[in-house]
Amino acid sequence: MTQTVLITGVSAGLGAAFAGHYLAEGADVLGCSRRRPEQFREAEGFHFEPIDLSDLDGITGGLSRLCAGVDRCDLVILNAGILSPFGDMREARLEECQHVLNVNLWANKVLLDWLLSQIPVVTQVVAISSGAGIHGNRGWNAYAISKAALNMLIRLYAAETPATHFTAVAPGPVETAMQEYLCQLPGEERFPTLASLKQRRHTDQMPRPEVLAPRLASLFTEARQRVPSGEFIDIRRLPW
Ligand SMILES: NC(=O)c1ccc[n+]([C@@H]2O[C@H](COP(=O)([O-])OP(=O)(O)OC[C@H]3O[C@@H](n4cnc5c(N)ncnc54)[C@H](OP(=O)(O)O)[C@@H]3O)[C@@H](O)[C@H]2O)c1
Repeated sequence: MTQTVLITGVSAGLGAAFAGHYLAEGADVLGCSRRRPEQFREAEGFHFEPIDLSDLDGITGGLSRLCAGVDRCDLVILNAGILSPFGDMREARLEECQHVLNVNLWANKVLLDWLLSQIPVVTQVVAISSGAGIHGNRGWNAYAISKAALNMLIRLYAAETPATHFTAVAPGPVETAMQEYLCQLPGEERFPTLASLKQRRHTDQMPRPEVLAPRLASLFTEARQRVPSGEFIDIRRLPW
């Protein structure tokens, strides 16, 4: 049976790489982001709807168009995410923090509430998280908070939705626009993680998204068998 995979943040980075991977596997891919990924325009099985996840009230309208006629979703990848301007917590503007929380956290609640109530079978949900949500390293401010809260959101949905397998997965550093932003920031002693990211850039410790997506896809399959629903998994510290 053809697999159906829904991916948020499908226009670039990891989300575009997931779409390319699952399309090559013959899956139907339902994708959303603000920009349309032109490389999949002609791809058989690719369906796209522009959705701005910061507009919480606009999400369900877009989703109902994207999922028209869909009665089963094998995998939902909650991938879309944004960084907060890097810096200390006390320097972070509250409106910026709220914006990051809306996109990285609350948009996923809106998405899950719609999908779990409107699609009869949702087999697996993977939220793309980050080590930043665990470590509390200086400078990651609202982004770190959003990923810590995302991990808990996934745990809570898992507890109340036994028919669906949930995990939050940290992919480790990936060579995307996000790293382009982080690695061009001036090195500052107070933010040692930036220097560490710069060192890992252009090495196999920061793979390109096309390289990482197939590895993550097999991790997702394994996770369904090996990990209790609701868990956080870091690809760099697999429990198997
Ligand atoms: N790159 C890393 O090193 C790294 C490490 C750990 C975790 N992650 C996580 O991995 C995920 C993917 O990151 P990435 O590095 O691939 O980022 P990216 O290259 O910046 O891509 C982000 C994607 O999210 C979408 N997006 C952003 N804001 C959106 C909005 N308001 N509405 C709808 N879609 C929106 C973007 O599409 P549009 O701009 O077209 O809307 C784009 O498709 C994120 O959750 C990130 O936190 C990344």
